[in-house]
Amino acid sequence: MDPRPVKRCLCYDRSFLEIQKEGLQSIDEIIDRYGCTTGCGMCKPYIEEMLRTGETSFPVLEEQKIR
Ligand code: FES
Repeated sequence: MDPRPVKRCLCYDRSFLEIQKEGLQSIDEIIDRYGCTTGCGMCKPYIEEMLRTGETSFPVLEEQKIR
């Protein structure tokens, strides 16, 4: 089983890798291009982590880290 199963925004069907390859540098740029984070919002902490670290796949975050 993949230990880092979170790799995409499900609502807008975009992988974090696709977003990263576009060179988008902020949540606002990502929202303008794809809308990610504006659906259910569950991808937001992962996208923030992607912008911070450059990683594009993540383990499921613990609940307290999502808030
Ligand atoms: S998974 Fe990205 S907005 Fe729902």
